[in-house]
Amino acid sequence: MDKLVIEGGRPLSGTIVIQGAKNAALPILAASMLAYGTITIDHVPKLLDIDVMLNILRELGCRAEHTDGRVILETESAHTSHVPEALMRQMRSSIFLMGPLLARFGEVQVYQPGGCAIGERKIDLHLQGLQALGAEIEESGNRITCRAEKLYGADIHLSFPSVGATENIMMAAVLAEGRTTLTNAAREPEIADLQKFLNTMGAKIMGAGTDTITIDGVESLSPCQYQVIPDRIVTGTLMVAAAATRGQVTLQNTNAAHLSSLIHVMRRAGVQITVDGDIMKVGSSTRPKAVERIVTSPYPAFPTDLQSQIMVLLALSDGVSVLKETVFEGRLKHVDELSRMGADIRVDLNAAFIRGVPRLYGATVEATDLRAGAALVIAGLAAQGKTVVEQIHHIDRGYDQIETMLSRLGARISRYSPVPKQLI
Ligand code: UD1
Repeated sequence: MDKLVIEGGRPLSGTIVIQGAKNAALPILAASMLAYGTITIDHVPKLLDIDVMLNILRELGCRAEHTDGRVILETESAHTSHVPEALMRQMRSSIFLMGPLLARFGEVQVYQPGGCAIGERKIDLHLQGLQALGAEIEESGNRITCRAEKLYGADIHLSFPSVGATENIMMAAVLAEGRTTLTNAAREPEIADLQKFLNTMGAKIMGAGTDTITIDGVESLSPCQYQVIPDRIVTGTLMVAAAATRGQVTLQNTNAAHLSSLIHVMRRAGVQITVDGDIMKVGSSTRPKAVERIVTSPYPAFPTDLQSQIMVLLALSDGVSVLKETVFEGRLKHVDELSRMGADIRVDLNAAFIRGVPRLYGATVEATDLRAGAALVIAGLAAQGKTVVEQIHHIDRGYDQIETMLSRLGARISRYSPVPKQLI
C-alpha cells in the first residue's frame, strides 16, 4: 500500500488550478448512457473512482478514452445493463447507473453497494423513486433487478434530500412519458451541473439547485460536448490547508458561490479570503480563532465532505469549537488519528468538542476514508515534524495526485510505494 510522507511546518504558497468535480463527473458519465453516439466531457479528473466508472461503462460495451482531462465516450455499442458485482463493489457511485440503464434498456441489474467507512448508506430512496416512475424491483440476496417496459412521470417527494437519489431519479425521468416533479430534492451544485448536461443533450429539466425539480420527459437525447464544474471539495481542502499552514495560496478555476458556508466559517476563524471571478486567494498569518458551532447538513449548509478538513483548522485554533455531523453516522473516525498528532478533541455521539492546541506533532496515521485522509494530510502539513499517512488509496479516489498538487505549493510531501517482491 502506498503512503505519503510529509515534513510539516512549511506555509503553503503559490497558485493551483482546481480539477473538475468528481461528484459532478460521475453522474454525468452515467447519464451519458441515455444518448447514443460520441459524447465528449472535459475537466474530468484523473481519479480512481473515475477509472472504475469508465471500466464499468467499458464492461457494458461502451468505448471510453480519458486523456488530458477529456473523456471521449462512445455509447452506441453498449449492449448490456448488467453491472458486474466485482466492479460495483469497488465504488458506491456505480449505483448512479441504475436510472440511466433502466431508462435505456427497460431493465437493469446491479448489486447492493453496501455500507462504507462513513455510514450505512442505504439506497431505499433511489429504489422508491424508480418504483414511483413505474419500475418493478426484485431483490434477491445482494442482487437488485429493476424492470419497466416504459417509465411514466410521477410526483415524488424525497423524505431526505439525498444527492444520489435526486440524480438517479432525474436520469430515469428524462425519457419517461409525462412530467415528473421531485420535491425535497437535494440542491447541491453537482445536481445543477447534471441538469445542465442533460439539457445540453436535449432534456427538459428545470429547478435543479432548488428543492423542486421538474422533468418533462422527451423521446430521445443527442450526444454533446460538456465541461464539468470545478471541484468545490478540492477547493475547500486547499483553502483549509493554506490557512492551517498560515500560508497564502491562489486558487484558479473556482466557484466561490458553491463554498459560501465554508468561506463564512473560515472568515469567522480569521482567515483572509478574497474572490475575483473564478480566482480565490486564501491566506492567514495568525493562529485561527475557534468557531463556536458548525453543523454539517445538505447544501447550502456546511458540507459533510469538508467536515474532517475544517476540524484540523479548529484543532489548531484559539478556543473551543463544536462540530456536529448530521449527514453520515460514522464520519468522525479521523478524530482518533488527529488525537495521535496532539489534537484535543472529545466525541459525544455525532458531535466533536474541539479544544484548540497551539501545534500538532507529526505521527504515523491512517486514512479511514477519502476526506478523513485529506484532513490528515492537512494536519501533516501544519504539524511539527514528520507525518506518515497510510491507506492513501482512499485519498486517490478524490484527489488527482495530491502530493504533486501540494508540492507545487511548496509542501515537502512524497509518495512511497512498497518495493515489488521480485525486486527484493
Ligand atoms: C453524495 C456525494 C458524497 C457526499 C454526500 C452528501 C457523490 C458521488 N457523493 O453521496 O461525496 O458526502 O452526497 O453530501 O456525489 N440515504 C438514505 N437512503 C437513500 C440514500 C441516502 O437513507 O436511498 C442517506 C445516506 O445513508 C446518508 C444521507 O442519506 O446518511 C446522505 O446520502 P446522499 O445524499 O444520498 O449521499 P450520496 O449521494 O451517497
